[in-house]
Amino acid sequence: MTVLARSVAQLRSAIADLPGSVGLVPTMGALHEGHARLVSLAAQENTSVVVSVFVNPLQFTDLGDCDDFRNYPRDLDADFALLENLGVDVVFAPTTDEMYPGGLPQVWVRSGEMGERLEGASRPGHFDGVTTVVAKLFQLTQPDRAYFGEKDAQQLAIIQRMVADLNFPVAVRPVPIIRGEDGLAESSRNQHLSAEAREQALVLPHVLAELQERAAAGVPLDIKGARRMLRTAEGVELDHLEVIDPATLLPVEEVGEGALAVAAIHVGGTRLIDNVRLVPGA
Ligand code: PAF
Repeated sequence: MTVLARSVAQLRSAIADLPGSVGLVPTMGALHEGHARLVSLAAQENTSVVVSVFVNPLQFTDLGDCDDFRNYPRDLDADFALLENLGVDVVFAPTTDEMYPGGLPQVWVRSGEMGERLEGASRPGHFDGVTTVVAKLFQLTQPDRAYFGEKDAQQLAIIQRMVADLNFPVAVRPVPIIRGEDGLAESSRNQHLSAEAREQALVLPHVLAELQERAAAGVPLDIKGARRMLRTAEGVELDHLEVIDPATLLPVEEVGEGALAVAAIHVGGTRLIDNVRLVPGA
C-alpha cells in the first residue's frame, strides 16, 4: 500500500516503518515517463521507495511570485495514482507551509559559481532554491540513494557537488534522458506546448544530435553554426548552447570522453533544456 504523507510528522512515521534501504526520487509532480524511469531504477536498487511531490517556490523567479510558478502543472491525484501503480511506498506531498513553516528560510544552501552559469545566468537564485530544498528532503527522508534525471545536467552536477561538499550520506544516481518518439526530451513543461510549438521545439534535439554525430565522426563541432540554427529556427529563442565538462560545468575546448553539449531554448513561452554526451569516435 502506498502511504500519502502531507506533513513532516506523517512522513517521519511512514519512513520509520520502512524496511531496508530507501531510494528517494525528488519531483515537482506532473509526472511523466522520465519520472517513471527514476522510480523503477529506485525500486530495483532499494527495498523501499519514497517519492516527493513538491513545487518548490524557492527555485522560481521572485521566490514563486511569478506566472511560471503559478502555472506550473499540478495534479496530485494523477501523480499519486501513477506512483501507487508503480508500487512506491511513500509519497511525500507537503504544503509550502509544511516545508517552510517559518516563511522563507533564513539559512540556505548556496550553489556557488556552479549555480550562476548556464541555466543560473538566466534564472538567478534558481539553484540555491534547488540545493536548499534537496538538502531538506535528504534530511527528512534520510535516503541511501537519490535519483536525478540527466536532462537537468547542471542540477545533477550541483547536487553531486553538494553531497560531496557537505558529506551527505547518500549516493546520487544519475538516470538517462527519456525521449518521446519525435526525439523531444520528456519534461513536465512539455504539457505547455501546443502541437505547433512541439514541432518547432524539435530543432533542439535535432541540433544536439548533429553535434553528437560530428563528435563521433571526429569532425569539428561548429558550435557557432549550431547556435545559428537554433537562433534562426522559427518560433525559437535561443538561451544558450555550450559544450561543458559535466562535473565542473566549465566550457571545454577539446571534446574529451565525457563532454556534454547543453542547451536551453524558449518555444511558445515555454523554456526547454536538453543535452547530449559527446563521445569522440563513438
Ligand atoms: O528537478 C526537479 O524536479 C526539482 O528541481 C527538484 C530536484 C525536485 C527540486 O525541487
